[in-house]
Amino acid sequence: MNIVNPFYAAYASEPVQLMAKLPRAPINGSPVPGLTSLYHNDAPGEFGDRSYPGNCGGNLIHDLLQFFKPKHVFDPMSGSGTCRDVCLDLGIEHWSSDIHDGFDLSDPRNFFGDNALLERRMFDFVWIHPPYWRMKLYASNPDDLSRAPTLEDFLERCARVIGHCAYVLKPGGKFAILMGDYSDRERGFVPLTYHTKRLAFESGLTQTCTDIIRFSHGASSSRKVYRSSFIPGLHDVCAVFTK
Ligand SMILES: C[S@@+](CC[C@H](N)C(=O)[O-])C[C@H]1O[C@@H](n2cnc3c(N)ncnc32)[C@H](O)[C@@H]1O
Repeated sequence: MNIVNPFYAAYASEPVQLMAKLPRAPINGSPVPGLTSLYHNDAPGEFGDRSYPGNCGGNLIHDLLQFFKPKHVFDPMSGSGTCRDVCLDLGIEHWSSDIHDGFDLSDPRNFFGDNALLERRMFDFVWIHPPYWRMKLYASNPDDLSRAPTLEDFLERCARVIGHCAYVLKPGGKFAILMGDYSDRERGFVPLTYHTKRLAFESGLTQTCTDIIRFSHGASSSRKVYRSSFIPGLHDVCAVFTK
């Protein structure tokens, strides 16, 4: 077997064969046997727009929806519409929006009060894929999470985002968050996947199943060349919570 570290693929002059040996998954009653804790499916499917910054491909969402079989999905950070397109494909009712459409998930006025956009709306599945703080900047709107000036401010907004999603989740419903860690010279390594879980637990949610480690196929950072020496992170993490 030819095992090549994808980091070095940047230097290869010829196409390289990328292979990794994965553990065998036990046979079980899952309707989606390919959905395991190691998510390596690199075919994004025809969902959303691959050119949108931070686009996540639709196959993980597709698999999660087929596994949990929700009837009504909340998709409030829709980006290029990946989750929306998966819901359309599967015929699942959904509510999709984004800060680009003027909807701020961190604003309590959208959830509480007689005129709130989402007051009394309930969902049995929530999908969010937030910015990994300032790794990529999205809307110019300062309410965009990627525009949070400090880590503390970003985490405070994340706490509200998670709390609002938990608020509209039906008891027993599932809440999937796809998050990646972040690092830069100023803050060093920031374990956003840890903070996300901490905030979810503080919102009263419990974790439903194993973390799903999603291999970051096609990430733009994989094609960069750095002078510094570090251990490249080649995955993000999808954690699923229950109310
Ligand atoms: C990682 S991208 C999601 C990409 C999406 N999964 C896709 O495949 O296209 C994060 C999204 O969160 C949105 N966002 C950031 N802050 C927001 C907020 N306060 N309320 C709603 N959406 C927000 C950004 O505009 C961006 O589209």
